[in-house]
Amino acid sequence: MTWAIVPAAGRGARFGGERPKQYLEVAGKTVLAHTLGVLLRHPEVSGVVVVLAAGDQDWTDTALSILNDAAGKSIIACTGGSERADSVLAGLRELPGSVADDEYVLVHDAARPNLHPFDLDVLLKRGRADPVGAILAAPVRDTLKRADSAGRIDTTTPRESLWRAMTPQYFPRGTLTRALESARAAGVSVTDEAMALERLGLHPLLVEGREDNLKITTPADLGYFEWLQTQRQLAAG
Ligand code: C5P
Repeated sequence: MTWAIVPAAGRGARFGGERPKQYLEVAGKTVLAHTLGVLLRHPEVSGVVVVLAAGDQDWTDTALSILNDAAGKSIIACTGGSERADSVLAGLRELPGSVADDEYVLVHDAARPNLHPFDLDVLLKRGRADPVGAILAAPVRDTLKRADSAGRIDTTTPRESLWRAMTPQYFPRGTLTRALESARAAGVSVTDEAMALERLGLHPLLVEGREDNLKITTPADLGYFEWLQTQRQLAAG
């Protein structure tokens, strides 16, 4: 069994709007409720720690809306920090003491509501079999350009061997805690968990996931997620 930490303390500055993006509604549920639902419905997930912004006013309604998905599993809420990594560290501290240091834990962005259960399954199996751990990722398909300061193309970066990092990311509790604490002590801002492990010389496994495990960053992403939900409902009849 596995615990999941869901950082949901971001203000969504790039998205704009009054409501944080994790609380916008799609198909009658908030983005955060969709995200938590996928995790809680997986038979191997035993509980979730949701990390919220201080003063969050919206969590209670979302918590009530996922009770069916939770089906008796534990849901713990705590308060995050100013950077994503601070929020994940806060979540790690809230895990029950029964989660040993060598037990693997998932970290999954609140803003990724379209995780496919099959991808979660593959990540859990392959990640646990790896001594370092693993992340979901997708190979880069576009040609990449590095810009100069005038906004012109400086160079083309070969895309072979380049991947886009996604979540969930899946690492042993102890290693992940040490890696994030070490980055914080060094004043290094890490944008995902794998980056913190890389600083320690570790090389997490890349597990290829579906392209549509999108992170909701702009209103267009929300529109795409809405469309994906409608397609799914049509397919389900
Ligand atoms: O800002 P970004 O889209 O990279 O955030 C990824 C996830 O991390 C989001 O689910 C967001 O709510 C969360 N986050 C957080 N605490 C922060 C910043 C972001 O929990 N201080």
